[in-house]
Amino acid sequence: MKIISVVGARPNFMKIAPVHRAIHKYNTLHSSLFIHHLICHTGQHYDSNMSDQFFNDLELPSPDYYLGVGSGTHAVQTAKIMVEFEKVLNAENPDLVIIVGDVNSTIACSLTAVKMGIKVAHVEAGLRSFDRTMPEEINRILTDSISDFLFVTEKSGLDNLKREGVPDNKVFFVGNCMIDSLIHYLPKAETSNVINNFLLLPFDFILVTLHRPSNVDDPYRLKEILEFLCSLSNDQKVIFPVHPRTRNIMEANQLQITDPSSLILTEPLGYIEFLSLMKNASLVITDSGGIQEETTYLQIPCVTLRSSTERPVTIDVGTNYLVGEDLDQADRIVTEILSGKSRKGQIPKLWDGKAAERIVSILVEKFKKN
Ligand code: UD1
Repeated sequence: MKIISVVGARPNFMKIAPVHRAIHKYNTLHSSLFIHHLICHTGQHYDSNMSDQFFNDLELPSPDYYLGVGSGTHAVQTAKIMVEFEKVLNAENPDLVIIVGDVNSTIACSLTAVKMGIKVAHVEAGLRSFDRTMPEEINRILTDSISDFLFVTEKSGLDNLKREGVPDNKVFFVGNCMIDSLIHYLPKAETSNVINNFLLLPFDFILVTLHRPSNVDDPYRLKEILEFLCSLSNDQKVIFPVHPRTRNIMEANQLQITDPSSLILTEPLGYIEFLSLMKNASLVITDSGGIQEETTYLQIPCVTLRSSTERPVTIDVGTNYLVGEDLDQADRIVTEILSGKSRKGQIPKLWDGKAAERIVSILVEKFKKN
């Protein structure tokens, strides 16, 4: 059986790493069916600290194919990926393509594969923010509607797919591959020196990430958020690894920080270092999807600067607070958390480090029958 897994952008790497490991484990333990696993990197993210560093940290082999598409408008990026990925599929003729998450590489490669009659498995299916102004929401809806196997991380995903009329026999509640990686690499993160390197103390700093267009593309909004972070840094140090999209907008608009020793801006960090920072933060402020899940698993309070989330379990049972665009509301929640009033939260069902193994068992069963 030949499988091609696609990665493109930073949040994809930690979802494919456990799938790769689970396939390797399957091949070692079983002789009835050998799975030939290839990795195709579209090159949507290409900076070393957005890509190579993650291959190293997650012990992924170098990709078998690198499409080198780089940045562009949505149409250009999606189209370039499709043209290049079609060549890969023609050369390899795989039985299955695995795509993850909701980035442009996800929809581009799933669409290319299904039109060539190749089966597609979507890892992290069914999530919905119900906000169609987000490019990711369009990618999710379209990808789920054409995939053959839909692997779901939380119950809301099952409800959404049922409501959209996806047949039950395509949908599998398997847990969360991103949490598989977190569990696997937590011991290594615990040996990281990153906190000392930035002169931080455990549970005495706030960790920030921001890259959503709704927060960073408008320089006035971004300036407001930076001022808010500056004000927080009077109480606790704030560390903010800056995504290239955010950095570009800060540079283009000359947005600067007054006290860089309290509000520390850094380049994007690797997986292990970032995990260590998350685990030791007093709270995290973010607009990322994955970080809402990772903080829920780590039971670290997370203040999400968005008005919707496609991951409602992080609010229903986890440690996530959705504050919308209102920075006064964010300030109130941060104050509450820092005064010890945060909720503890629980770990969602099946977020147990075994999602990728479940995925591989299901795929093997299905393909053996054919
Ligand atoms: C993409 C995903 C988003 C995901 C995010 C994680 C889409 C539509 N969006 O957003 O869902 O949460 O990745 O990071 O797929 N850039 C670099 N170097 C890089 C990558 C990007 O400098 O390695 C800069 C470029 O100026 C680029 C901009 O960042 O134009 C945005 O990159 P892009 O891949 O278009 O979207 P992200 O904002 O990263």
